[in-house]
Amino acid sequence: SAQQQHRRGACGNSHPRLSLRHAPRSSRCAPCRVAAPEAPATVSASTLNTSFVQNKQQYEALYKRSIEDPAGFWAEVAEQFHWETKWERDHMRYNFDVRAGPIAVEWFRGATTNLAYNCLDRHVLAGRGDQTCFIWEGNDVGREKSMTYAEALDEVCRLANWLRAAGVKKGDAVAIYMPMLLELPLAMLACARIGAVHSVVFGGFSAESLAQRMEDCKAKVLLTASGVMRGPKSIDLKKIADKACSLSAEAGHTVEHVLVYENDNAVPAADCPFTPGRDRWWQAEVSAQPHTCAPEWVEAEHPLFLLYTSGSTGKPKGVLHTTGGYMVYAATTMRHVFGLQPGDVYWCTADCGWITGHSYLAYGPLLNGTTQVVFEGVPTHPTPARCWEVVAAHGVTQFYTAPTAIRSLMSFGDQWVSQCDTSSLRLLGSVGEPINPEAWRWYHEVVGKGKCPIVDTWWQTETGGHMITPLPGAWPEKPGSATLPFFGVRPVVLDEKGNELQGEAEGILAIAQPWPSTLRTVYGDHERYQSNYFGPFPGYYFTGDGCRRDADGYYWITGRVDDVINVSGHRIGTAEVESALVAHPACAEAAVVGYDHPIKGQGIYAYVTLMAGVEATKELKKELVGSVRSIIGAFAAPDVIHWAPGLPKTRSGKIMRRVLRKIAAKEEDQLGDTSTLADPGVVASLVELRGK
Ligand code: PRX
Repeated sequence: SAQQQHRRGACGNSHPRLSLRHAPRSSRCAPCRVAAPEAPATVSASTLNTSFVQNKQQYEALYKRSIEDPAGFWAEVAEQFHWETKWERDHMRYNFDVRAGPIAVEWFRGATTNLAYNCLDRHVLAGRGDQTCFIWEGNDVGREKSMTYAEALDEVCRLANWLRAAGVKKGDAVAIYMPMLLELPLAMLACARIGAVHSVVFGGFSAESLAQRMEDCKAKVLLTASGVMRGPKSIDLKKIADKACSLSAEAGHTVEHVLVYENDNAVPAADCPFTPGRDRWWQAEVSAQPHTCAPEWVEAEHPLFLLYTSGSTGKPKGVLHTTGGYMVYAATTMRHVFGLQPGDVYWCTADCGWITGHSYLAYGPLLNGTTQVVFEGVPTHPTPARCWEVVAAHGVTQFYTAPTAIRSLMSFGDQWVSQCDTSSLRLLGSVGEPINPEAWRWYHEVVGKGKCPIVDTWWQTETGGHMITPLPGAWPEKPGSATLPFFGVRPVVLDEKGNELQGEAEGILAIAQPWPSTLRTVYGDHERYQSNYFGPFPGYYFTGDGCRRDADGYYWITGRVDDVINVSGHRIGTAEVESALVAHPACAEAAVVGYDHPIKGQGIYAYVTLMAGVEATKELKKELVGSVRSIIGAFAAPDVIHWAPGLPKTRSGKIMRRVLRKIAAKEEDQLGDTSTLADPGVVASLVELRGK
């Protein structure tokens, strides 16, 4: 019927062929001729749980309240969840200023809850157990399955029971190194169910990186799989995991149990290395467990997960997120930014190994009872039409991906999109790096047929959820701008001295007060947390990003201001790549910078000084790239190795990266002041060696 065809629009009904808020100011919905509920003139925080913000006036009133009374605002929003015990009246406490003492952030003091319970049991108990929660699309076309909320709960309980039987207790860390099988988000939920802290390590990381992360968080148990398919290739994941366990043991940390999922499509059990005693087969072990598992009620500030991310110096940091605030914030951003409606089919292409996969694949969608697609493969396999075929096959309504994927798909031409029926799409999302206007327009015109709002969401591993983002239909978008802050987020633009700039301004992006999913610490190193994030500009959380605020108050992220580069939406510390290069015996010194890359956003450009007497050959370049692949992972492999007999250094020995960036960008005519260089002749010799 017409009614069925047109469910889910601003009127509460869907309009697959129209944009999300097709008629924001109309009380009558023209396409389906049913009355739309009038948006309330004023909305309170609790109405966010049932209706959407329709315009800028409503947003502004609510935003003001969220900033002035964060504790009251978020407590109202939090009412929609199950809390085993409620928070105290004065539940939110914080110190964001290092000068006033240790940095601390606390939300929902006194409350207890369980995130897995809120993601699964809550829906099942409300009679929504038969609703599909996951539609899984394998790497190979035709391999797919779906799972209901009740089935997911059953799986999670059995895995949680296995973890308990293996001796995992509340607060213990569990490492997860898995492909994008449904077992990956289910494993995260199983940990949450028993109060264990998960640490997901992206499957593209090397054995060294996995070992380093397992050692740091003292993971007792590792959950992994026999192998993974990436396009036409199969990868022996378990072999890498085994090497990581040995490296970890050499460093003095023993992983007690390894649970191995047989992903027989990639690597059958017969071809998978197995250490009896330590290793167990997932399918056999988990199916033998009881189907119910009492959730561990944990304090709101109980650690939920660690996720390692790169900074400008040193080893990756274990960013710690806790339970209550993260739950409320992930769920609320999810619902409002994606304009979720009953019956939607949402698809986020991120891997659970990154924060996007945590907040907007594992937790946000399930907290909202969403049906979502989980994709194991790569967007270009077997053809560049793959994503659009999946959209057509499942009637995807919201599609969330990174600009690098958009640029890559755009480079294959429009026909791959046009040949598929993408008319179910109602909203498009972008995350991970600035989206260039050309890619934005292609996304908007070719993929969204000009009818879908684009939510360009700016946020970070540390922020846990969207920070600056459009709310679809509530205010106009501008290609390349993340627009305005979400509720509770107070961004400021600072000058180099830390003064807040007013109005139109360009400078450093910082956040002036805590939001519910603020990172709480760097695992095992609170000092580093304080100095990294709160040291540079006392009183503020330092984001590491530069930004511009325009006359309309919109924020435009201009990229990192520290030595972090963003390659295909993956965050990579230049210092990490440098130390992986220097680990090669032929390399005396290395300096890494980012350069503009047409698909990846930024590419990795490495200047390498060789040991005396070593010949600079093409083979050696390959070996150096190989060193980075094996120490960090393939995604961090340098795109360019530039031989450097010397590096541009100041007289005090500091490398002038600005000069290196200019040479990489072929802009050596714009070097600026180089009078502090110890040896100005270095520049000419580097320019001469470019491309050699
Ligand atoms: O530089 C910003 C960029 O990605 C960084 C955070 O990386 P990560 O912690 O890996 O999280 C990525 C997924 C949230 C930021 O400091 N970034 C993220 N989203 C955007 C962005 N830059 C511009 N626009 C965005 N929408």
